[in-house]
This record gives sequence, C-alpha cells and structure tokens, in this order.
Amino acid sequence: MEVFQAIKQRRAVKHYHADAEMPAEDFDKIMSAVILSPTSYNIQHWRFVRVTDKEQRNKVKSAAWGQAQVADASELVILCADINAWNDRPERYVINSPQETQDMLLPMMDAFYNGKEQIQRDEAMRSCGIAAQTMMLAAKELGYDTCPMVGFDREELARLIRLPQGYVIAMMIAIGTAEKSAHPRGGQLPLNEVLAENYF
Ligand SMILES: Cc1cc2nc3c(=O)[nH]c(=O)nc-3n(C[C@H](O)[C@H](O)[C@H](O)COP(=O)(O)O)c2cc1C
Repeated sequence: MEVFQAIKQRRAVKHYHADAEMPAEDFDKIMSAVILSPTSYNIQHWRFVRVTDKEQRNKVKSAAWGQAQVADASELVILCADINAWNDRPERYVINSPQETQDMLLPMMDAFYNGKEQIQRDEAMRSCGIAAQTMMLAAKELGYDTCPMVGFDREELARLIRLPQGYVIAMMIAIGTAEKSAHPRGGQLPLNEVLAENYF
C-alpha cells in the first residue's frame, strides 16, 4: 500500500470482530516499525504495554468507560513513556555514533532537559504521538484497523498496569479486524485555515 493511501484509509474504527486474532508475525512487524519512529536525541521514551490477558483487557475496558474496542480488538497496546529517559544511561542512544558526536550530544542532551520538567514531559508525549501514527499506518499496511484512545480513567489505568513512578500514559491503541467501518469524517478544517506562511 502506498503511504498516501494508508494515511487516507486510516480511520478511528470502533467495532471489531472479537474472534479475529492477529498472527504473531504481524504484531512483531508493526512493533518493529514503531520503534524506528523518530525521537528527540533518539531518546526513545516510549514503553509499550501489550494487553493480552482477557481478564486484564476487561478491566482496562471498564477503566475506559466500557468502550467495546478495548476488549474486542485483536490487540491493545498502551503507549506509555519514561519521563526521565533523557537521564537513563543516555550513552545508549548514541552508541553507534562517532565518538566526537557522542561527546557533543551527551552534554547537549543534559543541558536541554536537566531541571526542565515541562520539556521532559512534552518530549515523552511527542515521542509517543509519533510512535502512535507509525503504529496505525503500519497496521493499515497489513490490513488492520486501529483506534487511538485517551477516553479512560488515567489513575485507574495506571493502577491496573502498575505504571512505574516517573512514567506517563500517552494513549492506547486498539488494533484489529473491522466489523463496521468508521463514520464519514467528522469535518476536516480546510488547509488554508491551518497552514500559515512565515507568520501567524
Ligand atoms: C489522542 C486521541 C485520543 C482519542 N480517543 C478516543 C477514544 O477514547 N475513543 C474513541 O472512540 N475515539 C478516540 N479517538 C478517535 C478520534 O475521535 C478520531 O481520531 C477523530 O474523530 C478523527 O477521526 P479519524 O481518526 O477516523 O480520522 C482519539 C483520537 C486521538 C488522536
């Protein structure tokens, strides 16, 4: 599938065949693509929780106010992020770079994030946002539909998945075989309303 076609065909699908299973190689393929997504300084803040256990899925569904796709989709991935990833053995993020690049980037990374909590969190969320789009497009390429979701009780979900201190939940994504198509697009803003040139 062409990238433009996948972008156009990706829709937030809410109804899935509950008995459809995703072959393990498809899930691996999607996730292997996801971790190639770009992140600032290659920090890769994302940490994913794949919810495979049926009972846990049903608990997550309750935390998501009963949204059917949480339990019915073949896969459910909760996109979390380590806010302190910038400071967790950062040499790993540049290990394959030439030594002079490493020597330059590591102090830059520290100066960029140290003591700046808002930026640390913004970056973690940014990384997950980009990973989410990769996940949805990769799934589309393999013939699956997806639904990105933030409609859940954050504290309850954090408790259910035992979210570690210093981590955030960005969203979750249901991936599966559509039972019903998405509604027609809700109403896209025209390009000339959202695209400025040089200045607002
Ligand atoms: C961050 C995010 C959170 C969302 N949360 C939910 C959700 O909890 N439940 C739901 O049914 N759809 C959810 N959606 C889907 C949006 O409603 C949908 O993407 C939007 O209406 C545009 O439709 P489209 O994705 O089909 O183009 C969410 C989308 C995003 C990007």
